[in-house]
Amino acid sequence: MLNNQPKHLSHGALIAFIEEMSKLCTPDAIHWCDGSQAEYDNLCGLLVQAGTFKQLNQERWPNSYACNSDPSDVARVEDKTFICSRRKEDAGPTNNWVDPKFMKIKMNELFTGCMKGRTLYVIPFCMGPLGSPLSKIGVQITDSAYVVVNMHIMTRMGSDVLKLLGADGEFVKCLHSLGAPLGPGQKDVSWPCNPTTKYIVHYPEDRTIVSYGSGYGGNALLGKKCFALRIASAMAKDEGWLAEHMLILGVEDPTGRKTYVAAAFPSACGKTNFAMLIPPTDMKGWKVTTIGDDIAWIKPGKDGKLYAINPEYGYFGVAPGTSEMTNPNAIKALSKNSIFTNVGVTPDGDVWWEGLTKEVPKKIYNWKNELHDPASGKLVAHPNSRFTAPANQSPSIDAEWENPNGVPISAFIFGGRRSTTIPLIYQAFNWNFGVYLASTMGSETTAAAVGEVGHVRRDPFAMLPFCGYHMADYFNHWLQLGRNLPNPPRMFGINWFRKDKDGHFLWPGFGDNMRILKWIIERVNGEVSAIESPIGWMPEYEDIDWGHMKFTPEQYDTLMEVDREAWKHEILDHEELFSRMYDKLPKEFFFMRELLLSGLWRSPEHWSLAPEIH
Ligand code: GTP
Ligand code: SPV
Ligand code: MN
Repeated sequence: MLNNQPKHLSHGALIAFIEEMSKLCTPDAIHWCDGSQAEYDNLCGLLVQAGTFKQLNQERWPNSYACNSDPSDVARVEDKTFICSRRKEDAGPTNNWVDPKFMKIKMNELFTGCMKGRTLYVIPFCMGPLGSPLSKIGVQITDSAYVVVNMHIMTRMGSDVLKLLGADGEFVKCLHSLGAPLGPGQKDVSWPCNPTTKYIVHYPEDRTIVSYGSGYGGNALLGKKCFALRIASAMAKDEGWLAEHMLILGVEDPTGRKTYVAAAFPSACGKTNFAMLIPPTDMKGWKVTTIGDDIAWIKPGKDGKLYAINPEYGYFGVAPGTSEMTNPNAIKALSKNSIFTNVGVTPDGDVWWEGLTKEVPKKIYNWKNELHDPASGKLVAHPNSRFTAPANQSPSIDAEWENPNGVPISAFIFGGRRSTTIPLIYQAFNWNFGVYLASTMGSETTAAAVGEVGHVRRDPFAMLPFCGYHMADYFNHWLQLGRNLPNPPRMFGINWFRKDKDGHFLWPGFGDNMRILKWIIERVNGEVSAIESPIGWMPEYEDIDWGHMKFTPEQYDTLMEVDREAWKHEILDHEELFSRMYDKLPKEFFFMRELLLSGLWRSPEHWSLAPEIH
């Protein structure tokens, strides 16, 4: 069997792991990835030959490819995602759990012979800058070349990581198979996967991931959600740090001062856009720079501040809605060396998705590779179609983005997709209220996960699908961390998505979000006042830099309104989440809930910033 195992490799445990997996999965060949450009180009070539990739027009899209997944494999599968801790109570009520003893037997059955007719790729990868004290190493085994080339963009991977591992370095074991073995002479399909059986399994105590049946995104690129969030959150709890579903951005003000903030929004709720925001032209001297757009690893420093790194090396961003108007930085990031999954492709090698331009190209194949019929009402791109692009290709990339020590975080921002109830911006009274705010966050579900779209669900810290242990232990971990910080970051709630009765967004969003971010930065630096509302501190109309923007105090008031009845329902709804984890819930939460309720009782029916009311 072909096996290019590096000769100098001295890591006994790694060699044994690969040998054991190879015996189980029975691939035709083993390829140890070196992470080189030649390897990347070669694998992309193989994917073109296999019909998985289409090479895009080289002039318009240098070194870029597009592909369509199987229609059964378009997003994360939350109902097939398991946290198999030894004890059920350590996974908690928000995670699927199966006794690891049984799950291991099941996985062993599924993986037996699962790579027949395919190559087993070994991907040594590092989450975080090589050599950073905050970074961690993983080794993913996969039978998908698509996964290898995506991991090449999304992580630092290859020979350098093997060197770093040395003879006995620690690594997270990541086992992945498409679950589509090939019989002798059997012709492959363009997107192999297992259309009926999918499992995304985590063993937090073993620091091990086993993923079967899907080739897509967070199900298959195991460095991302599986390692950098689910396993890392369990590590972080044990080791006293945080692994979060957060973007990290820097704000430079006209004096050149830099302030870093981290923000948690659920999947497909605007992290990438916010992380790459370009301030409106009337806000001269303000600049936003990007550290990361999806995941933050955050550790207390010796000086009592929190320091954050982006463990990733690329963006796996939502394509629809990304345009020169909404996110010019992302458009530049994805302009070369990128991979597009489930977007539309024209016969001359151009890509398109809803929102990229106003006009749909005349002749285009949709994400199912059918010729698009404008009369059909069908979408060209799948709503969860994605681009994979190198992080440093965004013009907004922060100079410190690979700083091994991370950047200091001054504020946390939490936001969901809420058509009603939640105001545009408010600041939690203190750290504990901030943890409460984040824990009770709700959001309308999106196409980023398989299932129904558009209903409000509680998504604490935007971590509901990503917390590798009991959610209430996670809340306690956040509270505990705050107790040890002399001057913890300020906490804010935002909602870009509030709508009027006709379903139109009340807030223009995108670049104008800078006006809200500016208030946050000024609050953090103690430079602007706020007034006390029943749910937190709020800016008055005059506190926001409106520049050329036409936005009346009445419009602002509608956006900032705290409706007593709606909020009573909102707080009752918190109870639904709490009742599922009553035994472990921080006792502080009950008091904070009572305080919020009594604040609402004392306020007028519609608490509002309008001058006639306060
Ligand atoms: P994941 O990669 O899935 O974790 O999500 P993400 O949070 O990075 O998602 P992304 O930034 O790609 O979200 C894209 C969606 O958010 C699109 O539907 C955008 O139109 C929408 N969006 C982003 N910013 C804004 C905004 O300021 N206002 C409104 N109304 N929509 C926004
Ligand atoms: C998300 O769903 O939050 C993502 C995309 O960032 S995936 O990597 O597919 O999970
Ligand atoms: Mn995400």
